[in-house]
Amino acid sequence: MSSLITLIYLIASAAFILSLKWMSDPKTARRGVFAGVLGMTAAVIGTLFLPNVSHYTPILIALVLGTIVGIPISRVAMTAVPQRTAISHAFGALAAALVGTAEYYLHAPHIARFTMGAIVFETLLGFLTFTGSVMAFAKLQELIPTRPITFKGQNKFNFALLGTAALIGVILVIAPGLKFLFPIFALLALAFGVLLIIPIGGADMPTVISLLNSYAGLAAVAMGFVLDSQLLIIAGALDGASGLILSIIMCKAMNRSFTNVLFGAFGQVQTAAVGEAETRVVKSASAEEAGQVLENSQLVVIIPGYGMAVAQAQHKVRELYDALTKKGVDVRFAIHPVAGRMPGHMNVLLAEADIPYDKLIEMDDINPDMPQADVALVIGANDVTNPAARHDKSSPIFGMPIIDCDKARTVMVIKRSMNPGFAGIENELYFDEKTLMLFGDAKGFVAEIVKSLTGGSGMGH
Ligand code: TAP
Repeated sequence: MSSLITLIYLIASAAFILSLKWMSDPKTARRGVFAGVLGMTAAVIGTLFLPNVSHYTPILIALVLGTIVGIPISRVAMTAVPQRTAISHAFGALAAALVGTAEYYLHAPHIARFTMGAIVFETLLGFLTFTGSVMAFAKLQELIPTRPITFKGQNKFNFALLGTAALIGVILVIAPGLKFLFPIFALLALAFGVLLIIPIGGADMPTVISLLNSYAGLAAVAMGFVLDSQLLIIAGALDGASGLILSIIMCKAMNRSFTNVLFGAFGQVQTAAVGEAETRVVKSASAEEAGQVLENSQLVVIIPGYGMAVAQAQHKVRELYDALTKKGVDVRFAIHPVAGRMPGHMNVLLAEADIPYDKLIEMDDINPDMPQADVALVIGANDVTNPAARHDKSSPIFGMPIIDCDKARTVMVIKRSMNPGFAGIENELYFDEKTLMLFGDAKGFVAEIVKSLTGGSGMGH
């Protein structure tokens, strides 16, 4: 039996590795998801046959409850995936922390040093990731303010708190019998998770989510050592490493220092003064006018953002692409690494609408071509086009690379109002001489442009 379980675990581990490999390319991503599901199913089945698993009733109850909660949260809109991911990390981390707690109370004081070290690591990371992820969820869902919450001496206070928790952890490793210390240790870890997330500003949340993902993975690795499960160690290490790699990629994209993210000391730039009445005017245009400018262009660069996802405008954007391409216009898409609300958000939407993949061009590759573009057509993007990121040191997005829309000959921006984007700040691009605001819902407005280009024969979708 035990060799059968080992075989099942081996298959599960291989499936997890292949899953990650396949998910790194849009062409094989679907296969990657199936491999992940297969791996997890195998892992669960294998575990149910472990000799020390004997009480099936609580497992069955947990299975039913998990399914009841899991099905609705698997059906959220794509725009809500970041907060959904955050809450999944919260559950995963809480599970790890509770397993560690149970192991401690089951076996203390007779726990080997190594195991106790793993329990301390598991519960510290598990509890802090739990509250941290719940806070990240609440920020992304806008249940609490998304702006950074800071106070004087915050970093010192946070470090002191983490240091105290770590010190208690060390004492517990040396003297596992001091049971009264464990709840204090757990409470400090829970509090640290909250304090870690509150100073982080909205625009930096994606990086934090993937970092929390990585912490949850590391907690699972420690759990693997506590329970002596190689599968958990492998799966946790894959999770921890991929989360870490994603965090580093996102830090690069956002031009943030990774050490700052690690220590939660970023996003502390004060937001610009609010409340000053805006007196500058913007120029707006109709769909027909926009259509005329577009068809008389040679190169049009489309910059999609979160608003395209909200409006589900990708199919209409495809029609616009077709109509312009037919008229001989070179149409390309500029993909900012954090456009939308999750990594690869724009790629997924545009691929769904069958826009040729070679027309999606990453920020660093498209920016040198922006001065040659006749039109930069921004569709529901805001922060990723804001020139304040280049020069305004007081801006919360200062330092984040942007798509150089302002370098194009004409800028056209489709959005519904003058409202700010995720970072909550004004975009000076809208007041530029060469910018035309196209006010309206992305899907409806693009449809109108298509109609004007095709003489009213735009296909419905
Ligand atoms: P945002 O800066 O959030 O701007 C989106 C704009 O879309 C808004 O200004 C909004 O203006 C417009 N909009 C909303 N619904 C619309 C609709 N139905 N039709 C037309 N326009 C609509 O988006 P972005 O430029 O894509 O930047 C992404 C931001 O999210 C960055 O700050 C990034 O850091 C953050 N973030 C990214 C991620 C990842 S990993 N991608 C995860 C979490 C957060 P109106 O209300 O006026 O229409």
